[in-house]
Amino acid sequence: MLLDALHCQNHTRPPVWLMRQAGRYMPEYRQIRSRYSFLTMCKTPELAAEITALPINAFGMDAAILFSDILVVAEGLGFKLEFIDAEGPVLSPPIREKKQITDIQIPAAEEAFGYVADAIRLIKQQLSVPLLGFAGAPFTVASYMIEGRTSRDLKRTKEWLYRDPAGFHVLLDKIAAATEAYLKMQVRAGVDAIQIFDSWANVLAYREFKEFSLKYLQRLSAALQAENVPVILFCKGSSCFAKDLAAITPNAISLDWNCHLPSMRAAIPPTIAIQGNLDPYMLLGPAETIVKQTQELLQGMRGDKGYIFNLGHGILPETPVDSVRTLINTIKNLS
Ligand code: CP3
Repeated sequence: MLLDALHCQNHTRPPVWLMRQAGRYMPEYRQIRSRYSFLTMCKTPELAAEITALPINAFGMDAAILFSDILVVAEGLGFKLEFIDAEGPVLSPPIREKKQITDIQIPAAEEAFGYVADAIRLIKQQLSVPLLGFAGAPFTVASYMIEGRTSRDLKRTKEWLYRDPAGFHVLLDKIAAATEAYLKMQVRAGVDAIQIFDSWANVLAYREFKEFSLKYLQRLSAALQAENVPVILFCKGSSCFAKDLAAITPNAISLDWNCHLPSMRAAIPPTIAIQGNLDPYMLLGPAETIVKQTQELLQGMRGDKGYIFNLGHGILPETPVDSVRTLINTIKNLS
């Protein structure tokens, strides 16, 4: 179903999966997390495989997403990566001087990320739904390398790209090369499709988005499509940049929750699938609202052969599991 929709050839109800579907909102996840660090969970193929399957077993989504993180690529490029409780990811040392960019070495994918390939092979033996691989967009990964941690406005990153655009491109180019090799390794290991997350694209002005993000999304998308694997592009801000994303012809564009999806569909060629876009915060609200707004979204996209149901961004850790059950059942009960 998901793969048909990615080729705009789905004749049944829309497939559904949720960004960040294997995470802290699930008691089963929290139970495993109480025993292991997040990175140990990512790096132990048996644990990564078990966690990837948790939401499929609990709620019956139509696709699984590999349990990992976009920042493992930064670790492979030589940064120390830690996940600190109540703070999130920390990369050190953050980039403060040009020499740090020059010194970055691109690793052999199998050496740096072999544990991810092992996890994918194990998941594929155990899972009956398609498996999505993923990576961060070069711009988003670069922003973490420069900020060192999650930042609201990416002030240092933007200051760098305006002050030294050539140096910033060297950094993006190295991240893109490592990411391309990493994603091709995921494809060889068996993922069925790839999603690229540009979670911070929304901080960029239009001109800078095209120069510092879109160009690299195009490179990754083309490299993967050459391997015959469908590519989904997600940007926070995708509803602003949708026409430009469509111009680089990914298989699908994942839209944030700000736009009216049926209008957006009309602006995107029918050969490109669209994914989205329920507000993840809505899942904190009452069941009646979830049912009503999910039905409204499904109704607006009815008959669309290239529609994939998802949220407009990742599911929040505070989300009640009953809300997720209500959401998935509403979609699956569509007649
Ligand atoms: O979607 C899935 O279920 C697969 C797993 C997945 C994780 N991170 C697991 C995770 C995916 C696809 C990601 C992508 C990711 N990681 C993004 C892009 C997606 C997005 O939401 O925009 C970004 C920006 C990151 C970086 C990152 N990792 C942050 C900012 C944080 C801290 C905030 C948070 O939500 O905790 C993480 C940690 C993280 N990644 C957790 C999980 C399950 C929580 C770790 C824990 O248990 O403490």
